[in-house]
Amino acid sequence: MSAQKVVICKDLRSELSDFLASLDYDKLFILTDTNTRSACYPLIRDTPALSDAPVFVTEAGDMHKNVESLSRIWTSLSDGGASRNSLLLNLGGGMVTDMGGFAGATFKRGIRTINIPTTLMASVDAAVGGKTGINFNGLKNEIGAFYPPLCVFIDCEFLRTLDRANILSGYAEMIKHGLISSMENYTSVMLYDIDTMNYTYLNELVARSVEVKERIVAEDPKERGIRKALNFGHTVGHAYESLSFRKERPILHGHAVAAGIVSELYLSHKRCGFPMEKVSQVVYYIKEYYPAFVFDCKDYDSLYELMTHDKKNESGIINFTLLGNVGDVRINQSVSKEVILESLDFYRESFGC
Ligand code: GLY
Repeated sequence: MSAQKVVICKDLRSELSDFLASLDYDKLFILTDTNTRSACYPLIRDTPALSDAPVFVTEAGDMHKNVESLSRIWTSLSDGGASRNSLLLNLGGGMVTDMGGFAGATFKRGIRTINIPTTLMASVDAAVGGKTGINFNGLKNEIGAFYPPLCVFIDCEFLRTLDRANILSGYAEMIKHGLISSMENYTSVMLYDIDTMNYTYLNELVARSVEVKERIVAEDPKERGIRKALNFGHTVGHAYESLSFRKERPILHGHAVAAGIVSELYLSHKRCGFPMEKVSQVVYYIKEYYPAFVFDCKDYDSLYELMTHDKKNESGIINFTLLGNVGDVRINQSVSKEVILESLDFYRESFGC
């Protein structure tokens, strides 16, 4: 599996044009969703190489990342005369890059894809690293493939179209990348003031964050080992996210990850000696910006049961990625149920809920 090229754009249209000019292809198709068709496509539509490209529009929202939408993309490619030598350019958030990536992986056994992420979450996580797929049977990302795009073009101009909640959602993955990589990255992520939103500086932080992910994915593209580092915060985070859906009070993925990071830092402290003063620093930062996820001790059994379904688990044991310190990643960690429940207490106590 070859690694994808990642371009942090200074001028998206010219960098995309140069890249397309370097490729041999017959047709180019663009996948958007109802949001990115109106908010983002106009920013690239006058790129000459895109002028004749058919634009497919899928319904926005993760609930549409399903086999019916996928089938419509296959049909559009087929009706549009796509061949093995065609390109599919996915313009959107993680929903579009995941599903478009999987459409590309499967159409005629694989056509080349290009991702242009338009959310912070997709820029620093979903669009990079080759995980593609759809939800199936009520399970998230149940069907999919590791299929890296040829290239990912990241342009922080798109981030100006995002609301604060979505900025925060993506930023949770940047906090994770800081924690799993180095003191330098960690410190710069912790010092960023989300309230003043300096987009130029955010661009630099995004570039560093993506580098962390690229380095890990290059070492372990199919998540046999160290790629599990990217799951830090996600075992408890996914349980918080699923609980929010069950309670019909859905929260954004990254907000759940931020809450999961708080709980998993507590587990890291208990299991691997992660320093408590750094736990407090991160909790302070997350409390400052993120809304509290409200639950009570009657939810603990459901949360624990949700963690037992995590994809990383083996032989029914909940498999955590924890930290001994910033940059000191410990994969395949197990923790007693008692301590896992304490980590839920820790979140609630930290947030006073
Ligand atoms: N989002 C985690 C990964 O790409 O492995």
